[in-house]
Amino acid sequence: MGNMKLNLKIWRQAGPNDKGQMKDYPVSNVSEDMSFLEMLDVLNDDIVRKGDDPIAFDHDCREGICGSCSLFINGEAHGPGKGITTCQLHMRRFKDGDTIHVEPWRAQAFPVIKDLATNRSAFDRIQAAGGFVSINTSGNLVDGNAVPIPKDHADKAFDAATCIGCGACVATCPNGSAMLFTAAKVSQLSLLPQGKPESKRRALAMVEQMDKEGFGNCSNTGACEIECPKNISLEHIARLNREYLAATVTKE
Ligand code: SF4
Ligand code: FES
Repeated sequence: MGNMKLNLKIWRQAGPNDKGQMKDYPVSNVSEDMSFLEMLDVLNDDIVRKGDDPIAFDHDCREGICGSCSLFINGEAHGPGKGITTCQLHMRRFKDGDTIHVEPWRAQAFPVIKDLATNRSAFDRIQAAGGFVSINTSGNLVDGNAVPIPKDHADKAFDAATCIGCGACVATCPNGSAMLFTAAKVSQLSLLPQGKPESKRRALAMVEQMDKEGFGNCSNTGACEIECPKNISLEHIARLNREYLAATVTKE
């Protein structure tokens, strides 16, 4: 059992059309070894014991892989600390007696479902618009490992592929732009030979879908890169811009 006492201020919203408000939740017996989500589990146990409605929040893997957890903590996506997700944030980052504000991602394209849970299916639709390679997997195929790939391209493609689709970039961007996410998903494919044949079509389709979903325009503030738990580089946005421009001028 821990001995930290905290004053939590948490966003409660019954449903997408409810106005929502911050509510106070004092918690005690918090251990510094708990993750932020475990601390919320303890709070929810208390809330349920009192017969009230537990706080809804997204989580799945709880080890920084799935991208589900998504809390704005004290005004920062995924809370204090760089290169970690909310589930990897530990209570030792806070002090006994702290007041902690917990809010959902705020973005037009990520409507609140309930409390701290938002609907991020707009990301799925961007991915489905072009985030794939079309390969006929029957017949005589060249083994993937037999295709030479420059080491720096392979490394950059891998870095881009570490994007977990959490949406912290969108929530942090003052314009609510999804450029860092989209650029990561475009780069991970277009840097590799297997992704090149469809690169123009992919860039056009994914950017078009991004705009349709109501994400804002990128104005190069760089906030997304700072709060991204996977340290996705702005360099990928520059690549997407180049690919998009090239695709636009040579559009059939
Ligand atoms: S680019 Fe970073 S912040 Fe944005 S969705 Fe991917 S992992 Fe999350
Ligand atoms: S719960 Fe999967 S990344 Fe946090």
